[in-house]
Amino acid sequence: MSNSSHNDSRFERAANDDAQVLDSHEKALGPQKDDAGNYNLRPLLMLFLLSTFVLFAATYVNRYSGHYSASIYNETALPHTGAEVVVKADPVAAGKKLFNSPGACYSCHQPNGQGIAGVYPPLAGSEWVTGSEERVVRILLHGLKGQVTVSGTSYAGAAAMPAFGTAGYNWTDEKIANVLTYIRQEWGNKGAVITADAVARIRSQAGDRKEWSSTELLQIK
Ligand code: HEC
Repeated sequence: MSNSSHNDSRFERAANDDAQVLDSHEKALGPQKDDAGNYNLRPLLMLFLLSTFVLFAATYVNRYSGHYSASIYNETALPHTGAEVVVKADPVAAGKKLFNSPGACYSCHQPNGQGIAGVYPPLAGSEWVTGSEERVVRILLHGLKGQVTVSGTSYAGAAAMPAFGTAGYNWTDEKIANVLTYIRQEWGNKGAVITADAVARIRSQAGDRKEWSSTELLQIK
């Protein structure tokens, strides 16, 4: 029991409040950030990391980009020797490969160019092969259908010659030129080289079309 003069509960509350005020001041004024050294490390760290990355990337590109030269990917390029090096591809060798590639000429006309009697006409000794460049390029580009006479023998057109220049085989001008140069010089045939430029010219002249007939072709020079 306390005596009467200190009996008032308000005294106690006031003392409490004082303690709380002091307490919160201490908290508020307590350990503070160092104002003088108040810089933030994070942006500096980011700057450092970014600079390191840019330095690495620049060094990498400088070393491995090949200075953006297109020839860096040219696997057939020869090392510099001082003199100019001209690589000459052999069209006959390339053409022979094409002739004997899967599903190509040999499967019908046979590797020896003799064809199959009554169905596939021969390429060896054929006037279509060694004759007019205009005609033989068209046969390769768009195909041939219907009756055709080869070396005096008539083929009724039981089978058709597929188009190699359009959808399906889709051979380039260069491939067609090479295979034609090959068949014009193989099996004792003697015909002139056919260039990719000639094939390109005839391709654009003839446009997109279906198989030729031999009568149509005979009207071309
Ligand atoms: C699917 C069979 C087949 C394939 C593959 C084929 N031909 Fe033919 N070729 C024929 C037929 C069939 C004819 C005759 C078409 C006709 O009767 O109208 C012919 C005709 C020709 C002719 C004109 C006639 C002659 O005998 O001289 C030439 C040239 C020719 N082919 C070259 C080729 C070349 C080159 C290839 C390969 C790039 C090739 N052919 C692939 C079936 C084929």
